[in-house]
Amino acid sequence: MPSYLVTGGAGFIGSHLAEELLRRGERVRIVDSLVTGKRHNLAHLSKAEFLEGDLSDFAVAKAAVEGMDCVLHQAAIPSVPRSVEDPITSNRANITSTLNVLVAARDAKVKRVVYAGSSSAYGNTLVLPKHEEMPTNPLSPYALQKLVGEQYMQMFTALYGLETVTIRYFNVFGPRQDPSSPYSGVISVFTKALVENRPPTIHGDGEQTRDFTYVANVVDGVLRAATAPGVAGAVINVATGGRISLNELFRTLRDLIGSNVQATYAPTRAGDVKDSQADISRARKLLGYEPIVPFQEGLRRTVEWYRGSHPAS
Ligand code: UD1
Repeated sequence: MPSYLVTGGAGFIGSHLAEELLRRGERVRIVDSLVTGKRHNLAHLSKAEFLEGDLSDFAVAKAAVEGMDCVLHQAAIPSVPRSVEDPITSNRANITSTLNVLVAARDAKVKRVVYAGSSSAYGNTLVLPKHEEMPTNPLSPYALQKLVGEQYMQMFTALYGLETVTIRYFNVFGPRQDPSSPYSGVISVFTKALVENRPPTIHGDGEQTRDFTYVANVVDGVLRAATAPGVAGAVINVATGGRISLNELFRTLRDLIGSNVQATYAPTRAGDVKDSQADISRARKLLGYEPIVPFQEGLRRTVEWYRGSHPAS
């Protein structure tokens, strides 16, 4: 039975990956510092081995990777504004830890590392959708750190023959995304606010767009990348291929939830990308990937989950 290490497995995307691997009967180990990950996300993952530790400590990375066939490297401090405010902490989490995981994986002869890359690497491009051959243009420390991570992946493939694949995520959302911090993903923040009948804040004019991707699609893409042949060193977008503005997102959520609150507007965030939409033809070609849960259906499932876990008073 192949064994998988999910770094950041107590986090939002990591816990979904671990859950699906366990459902498929695979052996799973999770390593998480619980800085952004949550112990309660592990409650339904009791069949996985859990290691608490910070991967910026090489000894933790070494112990975590030991005996594993495949590493799904999800651990990160995943926020643009947080990286703008505190670039040193996010640099340590996003770059030092990634390098530690790679060195440990190389030494332990891991078969493949799949890395959580980010669409933020593209920055603002002249044309949409964004495809992997486009030049990168990071606009925030977070975007730069994620780009350095994927370049480290490719370098380890070239230098040491370690198989790596980078999946560039596009605004992933779904159940278990933590809405409680000012750095949380926008769908979690808006949904929680509307369920609690509070007005969400839209930064900028709300006409910025995103390719919001339901988490099940990302899980499918990553697990395909873990086993697909001929993908060592590749960088691959995984998303739905559509885009929606923040204003439209707000209206859709408000209708779904049956609220009539108005949004408030605040200045644009530093480092914010204007438009984001993925070209997913490479994922189709190399991974046989096709989005399995469309945006609207994902939003419906997400609202249902937040209603259950944060009921309106
Ligand atoms: C970015 C990256 C994404 C990465 C994610 C991690 C891009 C295109 N995407 O997402 O790859 O995984 O960071 O966090 O760069 N907003 C509001 N009100 C709020 C919260 C957010 O209006 O309360 C706005 C933001 O200003 C932004 C949009 O919603 O325009 C999305 O924000 P967020 O969910 O934080 O993700 P990105 O910064 O797009």
